[in-house]
Amino acid sequence: MNKEIELLIKAQANVIEVVSYEDKRIHGYVNAAAKSLGMSWYCWNEVNGLQRYDYASKEYVKEDDIKDYLDILNFFTDTLEENAILILQDFHHVLGRDDPKILRKFREILQNKSLPNKVIILSMPVKCVPDDLSKELSVVEIGLPDVKQLRTIANTCLNNYEVNQSSIDVPVLEAALGLTTMEAQLAFSKAIIEFNKLDQSCIPFIISEKESIIKKTGLLEYYHTSTKLGDVGGLENLKNWIDKRGKSFTPEAKEFGLETPKGIMLLGVPGCGKSLTAKAVAKAWNYPLLRFDIGKVFAGIVGESENNVRKALEIARAIAPCVLWIDEIEKGLSGIQSSGQTDGGTTSRVFGTLLTWMQEKTEPVFVIATANNISQLPPELMRKGRFDEVFFVDLPSYDERKKIFQIHIENRKRSIDNLDMEQLARETKGFSGSEIEECVKEALQTAFSEGSKPLTTEYLLEAIRSTVPLSITMGEGLRRLRDWAKFRARLASNGQVEDIDTEKSKSIPRLKSENSNPFLDD
Ligand SMILES: Nc1ncnc2c1ncn2[C@@H]1O[C@H](COP(=O)(O)OP(=O)(O)O)[C@@H](O)[C@H]1O
Ligand SMILES: [Mg+2]
Repeated sequence: MNKEIELLIKAQANVIEVVSYEDKRIHGYVNAAAKSLGMSWYCWNEVNGLQRYDYASKEYVKEDDIKDYLDILNFFTDTLEENAILILQDFHHVLGRDDPKILRKFREILQNKSLPNKVIILSMPVKCVPDDLSKELSVVEIGLPDVKQLRTIANTCLNNYEVNQSSIDVPVLEAALGLTTMEAQLAFSKAIIEFNKLDQSCIPFIISEKESIIKKTGLLEYYHTSTKLGDVGGLENLKNWIDKRGKSFTPEAKEFGLETPKGIMLLGVPGCGKSLTAKAVAKAWNYPLLRFDIGKVFAGIVGESENNVRKALEIARAIAPCVLWIDEIEKGLSGIQSSGQTDGGTTSRVFGTLLTWMQEKTEPVFVIATANNISQLPPELMRKGRFDEVFFVDLPSYDERKKIFQIHIENRKRSIDNLDMEQLARETKGFSGSEIEECVKEALQTAFSEGSKPLTTEYLLEAIRSTVPLSITMGEGLRRLRDWAKFRARLASNGQVEDIDTEKSKSIPRLKSENSNPFLDD
């Protein structure tokens, strides 16, 4: 049980902000503190007005119909009996608005040392401390249930269904990490109904329940993948780093004095294996992979977004050890420079939330962020200390292209024995990994359409010749990307960087409309 609230009341705090998405848990903690201190407790919100918790009947009893925020604060100072706790819900709405009357009233309460044993608990889904109150207000943040609390929840469920079971194995409880009390209750109950017990055989069931619950939050998704590091061609520096760092998650590494890895940023040319590597890391370390859809954050209602991001990050922290994959982070952040005008600063606040979280987390949540476009990335993100390393993922080198051909050819159950790999690599200068994969697919298509022929170098060359790689059309952009990365990032590959023939890009015939803006006069 969380003793913090009780300690703060004993230390004569008048107002305590308790942060959790779960009202019920806050009520539980307040109830425990109140009982232990011999106090009564009340709860207020805009809809239900004032209710008193009755210890005897274990029910909430209506006391008053107060609906106004200022009125309930006046009730607290003027009318409420001594030795009482008042839980206030919904106050993040008014505190967020910086309402001067409300803030004044709070300051009065906070500074009034003669209030005899009366305490306000602000029950908040998100932390919200107006500058005016930041000195005096005590804040308690309650995370998602840990294994110990999950055990209490699971035992209650077993009792509810009258299942006799003397102990519950830790892995069963761990399977529910990341869920709120209510969600865990639901998952355990369903498992008990299904299996009539809670043992290791229920784990897959609980995890699949958890996956669907987490998916409902909208921003996070359990990503299942069979991609291995061996499926990534080249990028040897990056793969070595991952191999080495994977070992620093162990308790022995911690004992030895190593820090838990924070995460990496993968920047670079589209289609060269950034997302692929993110997936492979989770598999290599055998951690769950959580995909965080940052683009969706801003599609929702402004104001809700910060809350949702916190919720998602909280889940990731509870599920740790895990890999949190933020794909194409720049998509979510594109509004950041102009956010002052466009969305009332939501973008930069959400972004700030993410940065602070990355800085402060101590749990083994390994963040892998990927980005194709550096111009939109705010400099704060690159500052030392956020990520362990920033890697630049360039176009594959000559040797890497051979490797990528091999991976995709062998993945399709063909052999490279009779293929001229040197020639294939030579002819695909400037191709990305995904373009090489496309060539393999296309060559197989042609071989099949000509009567299920074996895959030959000729089929592959034909596909190569009909492809104009993105690097050619990107031309100048690619050069800028490389220049930028030279001083700011480590190379993911240990291969030789080749110059891309940007001259060629001029020789590609373009439609006139691609170059001209119809809204501008000639
Ligand atoms: N280095 C590589 N090795 C093997 N396959 C690759 C490589 N790079 C790209 N591919 C292929 O191209 C696809 C797209 O690559 P992806 O990792 O999504 O690119 P991005 O860098 O844009 O995230 C991959 O799923 C994979 O099949
Ligand atoms: Mg990608």
